[in-house]
Amino acid sequence: MTALFGDDLMSRPRRELAPGAVHVPGWLTIEQQAWISARFREWAAGPVPPRAASVRGHEMSVKTVCLGWHWQPYKYSREATDVNGRRVLPFPDWMVRVGRLAVAEAYGGDATEYTPDTALVNYYDDAARMGMHQDKDEVSLEPVVSLSIGESCVFRFGNSEGRGRPYQDVVLESGDLFVFGGPSRLAFHGVTKILPGTAPEGCGVEDGRINITLRVTGLNDAARQLSTGEDTGA
Ligand code: SIN
Ligand code: MN
Repeated sequence: MTALFGDDLMSRPRRELAPGAVHVPGWLTIEQQAWISARFREWAAGPVPPRAASVRGHEMSVKTVCLGWHWQPYKYSREATDVNGRRVLPFPDWMVRVGRLAVAEAYGGDATEYTPDTALVNYYDDAARMGMHQDKDEVSLEPVVSLSIGESCVFRFGNSEGRGRPYQDVVLESGDLFVFGGPSRLAFHGVTKILPGTAPEGCGVEDGRINITLRVTGLNDAARQLSTGEDTGA
């Protein structure tokens, strides 16, 4: 009954945490979650396997596989030069459509101008975390679209000035959408914990959590970005 009539969604209303930062609970259906989880297994099979990036000499607890452009701390490239040198898989068209639907859902309008070109697909086991950071390796300041599948997490969404308060903690569950753009595009954010055993049946992930962020790099193949700063965690 709960699933049919959405008691859960009613107790988790859509919310704008800050201007431009919108949480939409239960945006993906369970079938969409399962389908994306199956794609994740294909991406993880290569050519570039998920890897824990090293930030300032510390290996992240999250493992990341990328589509379109490969992210490593402070830069994007087409080849995963810090993994095995292989070119990453192309950015799929369906993800452009998902990105537009997500931005339209968050901000209204049809978002036809929004054209993400990279996806950072993160896998968290139950012990994984992500420290407070800004997403600032992109040249473009178009919104970041975040999709969560599997176990829930506590997502900390802060301010653009620094890692500390004020921040808000929000539970992201399987199927949730979070979009941050506009005045919130450079807000610090992180994942303080995974909530084990919370993945819903049928989502395609039994243990751990998948998070996909769709982004616009603002790069092209002729002018690759070399470095943008130091604060990036992902
Ligand atoms: C990220 O900040 O890149 C990922 C956030 C998340 O896992 O929800
Ligand atoms: Mn991030």
